[in-house]
Amino acid sequence: TEAWGPDDDEPRPHRGPVKVRVPAKINLHLGVGPLRPDGYHELNTVYHAISLFDELTARRGDTLTLTMEGEGTGELALDESNLIIRAARALAARRQVPAFARLHLRKSIPLAGGLAGGSADAAATLIACDLLWGLGMSRDELAEVGAELGSDVPFLLHGGTALGTGHGEAVSPILARPTVWHWVVAIADGGLSTPAVYRELDRLRAADQPAPPVPLGGTDRLMAAMRQRDPEVLGEALGNDLQAAALSLRPQLADVLKAGHEAGALAGLVSGSGPTCVFLAADAAHAQEVADGLSAARVCRAVVTARGPQPGARVT
Ligand code: C5P
Repeated sequence: TEAWGPDDDEPRPHRGPVKVRVPAKINLHLGVGPLRPDGYHELNTVYHAISLFDELTARRGDTLTLTMEGEGTGELALDESNLIIRAARALAARRQVPAFARLHLRKSIPLAGGLAGGSADAAATLIACDLLWGLGMSRDELAEVGAELGSDVPFLLHGGTALGTGHGEAVSPILARPTVWHWVVAIADGGLSTPAVYRELDRLRAADQPAPPVPLGGTDRLMAAMRQRDPEVLGEALGNDLQAAALSLRPQLADVLKAGHEAGALAGLVSGSGPTCVFLAADAAHAQEVADGLSAARVCRAVVTARGPQPGARVT
């Protein structure tokens, strides 16, 4: 590509623009263990990247700036607190280069939706700035920088379907015969704070007296179901330990889950910490039917169909 000279293989700065597309994630299984001393919960999760994308464009500049359009414009702060700015600064600091770029985000993944939109944007930034600045870092090196920014960043660099352990940052790909899964995504009005949902789970667990030991469910059942490549079987294995907490904070989500079921979905669950709900369909036509039924029920802000798995953050 134009980033590389003809006679050597040293990465060089790119003249830009660099455009990166990054998917949203859902969790096919989200097992949450006890709260750790560092404030995170131990997880056993199966991540799955779906075809709902943000796009980040990076151009050369003599300072670091960020603009945006789409979902969350006007709500999302574009200052130093933004995960995109933090990702660019973290990468520049790691390699001791100036953090100069003009960044523009086209956002489709809803804010605070349980779809890891913030981590997705951080992952896209790492890929874009690595190329723009000619750093030539590997995805694993970028994942190390990314893990400090958000638990889901390493997964969104890799994409596909993968196991997540630790607090979600330790990712290993699942090598399975490729199967396309069809989803319907119910986007809510307003977000849910991820830390608040984890706190609610802790509260619900503590209120359960006598408090049983917190089980950290494994992912074997989900993995076995995936290998059967049958959506009915996968539907029965989907699960999310955060769902009860999200429902407790947002009881109306029960109406969304019920509407999806009535629209004929094979299964439905809260995505991550919510409030987005996702429904499994048998094929593309069935997904459209479920989406139409769900839209007609008027229980959420928007309904879109999506497929997974999708690759992680990559240059388009
Ligand atoms: O890593 P990330 O920034 O996405 O996490 C946001 C918050 O969600 C954490 O600060 C923590 O409160 C909660 N969290 C958790 N256990 C995890 C991941 C996130 O308690 N495994």
